[in-house]
Amino acid sequence: MNVDKIRENFPHIDDMIYLGAAGSAPFNLVNYNAVMECWNRRRYGSTLGGTDHAWFSEKDPLAREEGAKLVGASPDELCITSRVVQGINIIKDTLGYNEPWNKGDNVVMTDQAYPSTGHTLLSLNRHGVELRVIKHRDGRIMREDMENAVDENTRLVVINRTSVGSGFTYDVKQVCEIAHERGTYVLDDAVQTIGSKVVDLHDDDVDFMVTGSYKWQCGPPEAGFLYVKQSLCEELLPSFWSYINVDKGPGITGFDKFPFGAADHDSVKTYDYPFPKTAQRFEQGTTATDEIWAWHAVLKWLNGLGKENIERRNMRLGLYLSEELEEIGCKVKTPADPEPDALNTHRHALTMYTTGSDELDRKTTAQLRGRPIKQVRGPTMKYQAGYGGVRVSPHFYNTEEEIDLFVAYLKKLMS
Ligand SMILES: Cc1ncc(COP(=O)(O)O)c(C=O)c1O
Repeated sequence: MNVDKIRENFPHIDDMIYLGAAGSAPFNLVNYNAVMECWNRRRYGSTLGGTDHAWFSEKDPLAREEGAKLVGASPDELCITSRVVQGINIIKDTLGYNEPWNKGDNVVMTDQAYPSTGHTLLSLNRHGVELRVIKHRDGRIMREDMENAVDENTRLVVINRTSVGSGFTYDVKQVCEIAHERGTYVLDDAVQTIGSKVVDLHDDDVDFMVTGSYKWQCGPPEAGFLYVKQSLCEELLPSFWSYINVDKGPGITGFDKFPFGAADHDSVKTYDYPFPKTAQRFEQGTTATDEIWAWHAVLKWLNGLGKENIERRNMRLGLYLSEELEEIGCKVKTPADPEPDALNTHRHALTMYTTGSDELDRKTTAQLRGRPIKQVRGPTMKYQAGYGGVRVSPHFYNTEEEIDLFVAYLKKLMS
């Protein structure tokens, strides 16, 4: 993997030591160039007539194709969303639309989930649905606790594939086994994993997955995917009806696919088609053209670099960072390897450490930005249900030398 070449796409990272991919990736020229290309097409290439609708969404299927390669899915199982929260809401609403939420139902999550999970699911309280929150043990989610929490009344298990603060990364296959044995679904928020670690949704047998573009995927700010397993695309009706996402039959391509040009454009009959048997039935209307141009370009770029290569590099960076931190007396809190009774697999680059004192963690984290010559950006204090420390998230564009400089400066601040 040619790190120098990768770095050329991130013009700001030479001015700082950027270690914050878990928050958001730095400005990336792959996005910028694609957005410019999109707007130049609009400015110079558009017919400025009624046919704009066709190219507004021309990159959507291409983005789904690249996304599918990255996550081990079929393009038909991906629908484009704005980001994670929209995807979680779609699933919550879709399940309730197909079978009303009732008192006695429960939904299982963990106290290591990002607030977007819990906050969205809280809305189920009004139906009397129980929200079961599994408590971590020393930052780990234990198999036994998941087995005890999920029962025949569980309608959904929601996990964050890599926990936002601790970096605990699930072996999602195990979670799916537990859920499926009890007849329920798994919704996997993989935003902190995809783009850094290999994700294979088919192999894991995941039911639903949500992600967003702007963290480890280095994409634009406002794009995401919702994955719905093929059998569920055929089984579940969408709760959000969009006249655009209907199946107009085979042989209809390009502009013809849209109802806008039809002679009876404004009649309900024009839109009276079934939903497609793909995840597109869950799409919430139109997509953001320039964002999808950018995201498609970034996904293609990531696939070209190779997800296995990226994973290898990021696992190495995570390990290197951990060793360096421990050398200066910090404790790394991210579980590194699978543990027999916990539901985790190997970690990637997201790393949480503590200097040993909360006060010193706060002080040193605030001071990192003051590093002479190049500031350190990205390390952030994180606490989730009492498990906390400082989160550092290097990505494939970072070098070992940058990690050395960060750790040497931290050591100085600690003394
Ligand atoms: C695990 C996880 N899910 C969701 C989000 C945010 O969701 P959205 O992008 O929809 O705001 C974050 C942001 O840090 C996250 O870490």
